[in-house]
Amino acid sequence: MNPQPSPQPRALGVVRFYSFLPQAEGFSEEVLAGLALPRKSIPPKYFYDEQGCRLFEAICELPEYYLTRTEMAILRGNIAEIAQFVGPEAQLIEFGSGVQAKTRILIQALQTQLYVPIDIAIDTLRASSSELARRFPFLNIVGICADHTRPIALPEFVGVPIRRKTIFFPGSTIGNFTPAEALVFLRQARKMAGAGGVLLIGVDLKKDKATLDAAYADSKGVTEQFNLNLLHRINRELAADFQVKRFRHKAFYDPILGRVEMHLESQYSQFVHVAGRRFDFAPGETIHTEISCKYSIAEFQELGKRAGFTPEKVWTDPEQLFSVHGMVAS
Ligand code: AVJ
Repeated sequence: MNPQPSPQPRALGVVRFYSFLPQAEGFSEEVLAGLALPRKSIPPKYFYDEQGCRLFEAICELPEYYLTRTEMAILRGNIAEIAQFVGPEAQLIEFGSGVQAKTRILIQALQTQLYVPIDIAIDTLRASSSELARRFPFLNIVGICADHTRPIALPEFVGVPIRRKTIFFPGSTIGNFTPAEALVFLRQARKMAGAGGVLLIGVDLKKDKATLDAAYADSKGVTEQFNLNLLHRINRELAADFQVKRFRHKAFYDPILGRVEMHLESQYSQFVHVAGRRFDFAPGETIHTEISCKYSIAEFQELGKRAGFTPEKVWTDPEQLFSVHGMVAS
């Protein structure tokens, strides 16, 4: 019996990681600077330590937090059209990739060969990327641990055919920027995508205050824990002595500014030490921890245009809770 020639095995995908994080100093500097402001604030990217990532995943399962499941349904329900819009042989770049659940839908449909997830949480980035590599053995993954609120220069990856870059920015994470900051970010994304590149971005829509208030102050108190975890994290990592029980979670939609604000409100007159420095709190004084800006479809398309994109597609759910925009870099 003649041995049959075995089929040529396709090479397995390559998984690599790069870290562009400025390490822990960034955290202590930003916390100390933020607490010294007349209106105290800390950037929301510091929510995502290990516990914070877990709590955010729990938020995504809450009945009140409609964002994640609505966006998933929009992606699933329109995946053929989305794949057609993006086209073949796209390099997929994702900002704030997290657990990459939405990404799986895209990679399956697009048969992506090169995926570049960018996330500030190194453990989540590694674990999710390894899981994705198991699911899609031929996928090349270049994981970037970085803070996407700052400009990033991506390493080149050769050997994979690329027709167009596709920047995927789901979850309405763009809402953590003010509209002016979002414009700066989108212009950078436009540069990264290059002419003809694609932006696929999830944007939460403006809606009634009651729905938004509930989404950010859920009945089980998971969002409260997520917000308060920031103080626990500062205690753990920055030798601080916050008495977390003396602070309260506060979240509300401001229809004038078109955004949800999250704060940690001091319940008493008190002081706290962080890395050897003292900070005083008046009763009712807050640390502003997050904004989540909401847009109408037209408002976001206008922002995209100002950043150098042509809005071509928008997919929504029947209740018009959430939008996914398809834009092309002009
Ligand atoms: C991950 C920034 C999109 O603003 O809705 C969820 C984070 N904060 N609940 C959001 C968050 C409170 C979330 N983003």
